[in-house]
Amino acid sequence: MSTRRRARRIAIGNNKGGAKKTTSTVRLAEGLAALGHTVGVAELDPQANASRRLGWKDDLTTPTIADALHPENLVDGIAAGLWQPCGWQAPYASRIHVLPARFTLQDRDVEAGHKGAWRRFLRALKGADDHLDFLLVDLQPSLGHLTQMGLAAVDHTLVTFEPEYDSLEGAVRFRDFVASSRDDLANEDLDVLGYIPSGYDGRLAGHLGQLTNARTLFGDQLWDAVPRRSLLMTADEFAQPLTDVSGSHEIRAVYEILARRLVEVTS
Ligand SMILES: Nc1ncnc2c1ncn2[C@@H]1O[C@H](COP(=O)(O)OP(=O)(O)OP(=O)(O)O)[C@@H](O)[C@H]1O
Ligand SMILES: [Mg+2]
Repeated sequence: MSTRRRARRIAIGNNKGGAKKTTSTVRLAEGLAALGHTVGVAELDPQANASRRLGWKDDLTTPTIADALHPENLVDGIAAGLWQPCGWQAPYASRIHVLPARFTLQDRDVEAGHKGAWRRFLRALKGADDHLDFLLVDLQPSLGHLTQMGLAAVDHTLVTFEPEYDSLEGAVRFRDFVASSRDDLANEDLDVLGYIPSGYDGRLAGHLGQLTNARTLFGDQLWDAVPRRSLLMTADEFAQPLTDVSGSHEIRAVYEILARRLVEVTS
């Protein structure tokens, strides 16, 4: 019998913008929920794309993680009172919960110099995800303070990348950053579970070449590639679950395989 109490916490990162971090976070949450798991998605990017794509509608007054992490507000476990329902109508959406943020999360960055600032997200989460199977944390591309707060609070990371030079380079930088900062973040066991290529187009020689490079770099830790499909952009654009998008069967199957692998490697 498992003695685990808190959710399995995984941050999704890459030190490059547009590397499909948020799509991977949202669709893995969807895949896990479709498999019957309860999932929280925490927003650590002031762009707040994950919150919106999960159907959360920001009224600009609801307290978010941006407020909770303010030095004057922070108390252990404060995130427990911030959960919002996923706004989707899909049957499994009730198993997805959102810890949203808004652009004011950026203000927390300048407080990096405050004593113990890197522990703020860890403290905010204390006991707040005990009711969930998984907590997925969507990171911003920067490796700055917000990302460091995220890395201090999770058990594992997943790296996503487009099969293009700069995105692969960003993946390697993120991997190396995890390795070089885990001691400083008092999170010695923090690891990278896998690398997910996304937006892959097999007709492009460049993509084929970078996927080969990724296999050399990451070996068995290279997970299945998510093909480039405009329906994913549409679903993200309109904040929809994939079940609302016609022709999404193939992509749902890909994310189900990835979600199953995530369950397996964290069991
Ligand atoms: N497999 C795919 N095929 C086609 N488009 C995709 C795919 N996956 C994601 N996209 C689209 O690519 C764009 C960038 O993806 P996303 O927002 O997830 O990147 P990101 O790494 O989170 O970016 P940022 O660094 O700004 O946070 C989005 O418009 C998204 O809908
Ligand atoms: Mg993003």
